[in-house]
Amino acid sequence: MAFLPRVLVAFAVVLSLLACNVHAQLSPAFYAQTCPNLRRIVRNEMAVAVGRETRMGASILRMSFHDCFVNGCDGSILLDDGPNFTGEKTARPNQNSVRGFEVIDRIKARVEAACPSTVSCADILALAAHDGVELLGGPSWTVALGRRDARTASLNNANTQIPSPFANLANLISMFAAKGLDARDMTALSGAHTIGFARCTIFRSRIYNDTNIDARFAANSRANCPVTGGDNNLQSLDRSPFRFDNDYYRNLVGSRGLLHSDQELFNGGSQDTLVGTYSNNYLAFANDFAAAMVKMGNIGPLTGANGEIRRNCRVIN
Ligand code: HEM
Ligand SMILES: *[C@@H]1O[C@H](CO)[C@@H](O)[C@H](O)[C@H]1NC(C)=O
Ligand SMILES: *[C@@H]1O[C@H](CO)[C@@H](O)[C@H](O)[C@H]1NC(C)=O
Repeated sequence: MAFLPRVLVAFAVVLSLLACNVHAQLSPAFYAQTCPNLRRIVRNEMAVAVGRETRMGASILRMSFHDCFVNGCDGSILLDDGPNFTGEKTARPNQNSVRGFEVIDRIKARVEAACPSTVSCADILALAAHDGVELLGGPSWTVALGRRDARTASLNNANTQIPSPFANLANLISMFAAKGLDARDMTALSGAHTIGFARCTIFRSRIYNDTNIDARFAANSRANCPVTGGDNNLQSLDRSPFRFDNDYYRNLVGSRGLLHSDQELFNGGSQDTLVGTYSNNYLAFANDFAAAMVKMGNIGPLTGANGEIRRNCRVIN
């Protein structure tokens, strides 16, 4: 009788190990033995990149979002188009917009030199996004690792599953829900727009046609974004594009969201209260943002025997 519980325990352990294999978990220590300097290498290269161009912290964060929303965080966004391969770089949300691929190349080259064919491009991107946020003064979070790289990409999913800057609140909530992220995650993650820039072509209709916009903000924005021409003129997404703070939410409360989708978060709907909280409580925002980044990083990773460890992030092996 006494041995029965032990047998049961052993059985349960075997079962959970099997379950682990099938449903492999990411782990922060995944490369602890196989690439102990990984964190330092990524951090150093990101510090160099952000030192060279501060905006790069924002650009890499966005790249990570666009990776995770298309077939999971699998490095698919990094793949170049080729004669026999269609990647995601020409998708509407990505073309002439997502930037920083050379930074990922440089990090990957350093990582390959230290630990060949060991660390996935998907994990490098997740780490780089984290470091970019931290370098611009944002919160830290535990980056779980062990993702593998896709051998496929989906231009169609990149076109249809990344939310549009013209989306309304219901749209935004449902597109994040489709990725297992709730409305609170969505509103916190949108705070990424506390850093970085957008092009005139993206916010033109907002500053000329939206009515839920501060008049002075609209007028100032129009000066740098004419009705025709200047499509690529940049404007910062909040007043401090190089500092990860909660200014983004203060802007929303003042009807100074730059994107139509931004202002949807504070326009008389379900997220008004949360935006209000974040606008006067940086820590509440920072904590929720960090937690939501962990959730986003867990979207559909390839693990175990799935996918591969790409040698060059731009092409499958
Ligand atoms: C809620 C839905 C979202 C929409 C509709 C959206 C849309 C956009 C658009 C249109 C731009 C400007 C692109 C350009 O003009 O080239 C942009 C920039 C940016 N987005 Fe989002 N975004 C969303 C959520 C997110 C999330 C979840 C993140 C990351 C966690 C993020 C991070 C960024 C960053 C950092 C930039 C600035 C990039 C740079 O300066 O290079 N966005 N976003
Ligand atoms: C593309 O595919 C064709 C047909 O399978 C093949 O002959 C060709 O070598 C491939 N080209 C490249 C660059 O892989
Ligand atoms: C504003 O709306 C009008 C009427 O729908 C449209 O014709 C015009 O192109 C819009 N302007 C911009 C800058 O989007």
